Amino acid sequence: MNHALVRVSDGADWQVYHAIRRSSLWQERGLTGYDDARPEERLPNHHSLLLKLDGEGIGTTRLDDLGDQTGIVRLVAVTARQRGRGHGRVLSAMVEDYARKLGLHTLFVSAVLDAEGFYSATGWARVASGAPPLLGHADSFAQMRKRIVP
Ligand SMILES: CC(C)(COP(=O)(O)OP(=O)(O)OC[C@H]1O[C@@H](n2cnc3c(N)ncnc32)[C@H](O)[C@@H]1OP(=O)(O)O)[C@@H](O)C(=O)NCCC(=O)NCCS
Repeated sequence: MNHALVRVSDGADWQVYHAIRRSSLWQERGLTGYDDARPEERLPNHHSLLLKLDGEGIGTTRLDDLGDQTGIVRLVAVTARQRGRGHGRVLSAMVEDYARKLGLHTLFVSAVLDAEGFYSATGWARVASGAPPLLGHADSFAQMRKRIVP
């Protein structure tokens, strides 16, 4: 099993990236209206990341570099058929490594409550205060933080 984390740049990877997000984070949750043309995806400090397994895209997230050595991890997803096999844990470790190379020391995530266990298992903890305003806040989400060891 060969994992690679790539910053999305070519057309084929963008298609897979959006397809995974649309199905895992919208359709599975009964949501419609996923927009694959949001300008936020193309900002230079927003890193749209695709996890590949033996060359096939199986997971996604976006890492937003806030410019103060902190970042926000958004919309983590692994394709339904690949879940429960440790790929999410690999994605988490590879994103942490990616963030470390950007010079970040702290990451934040707004975790949907039914996925909080995944974050707890991969080194995240709830924060009571100090989360960046850009993280957003809603009752059905937990604000969590992970420190990155240099
Ligand atoms: C959350 C998600 C990314 C996890 O990916 P995955 O490949 O299934 O995760 P892994 O198999 O690597 O699991 C890693 C650990 O997290 C735990 N875990 C995974 N999903 C969990 C969940 N929903 N609740 C509690 N624990 C969970 C696993 O038991 C495992 O722990 P262990 O290694 O101690 O046994 C995946 O389930 C997913 O895409 N879900 C739908 C989208 C979603 O909800 N994303 C989160 C948005 S905030």
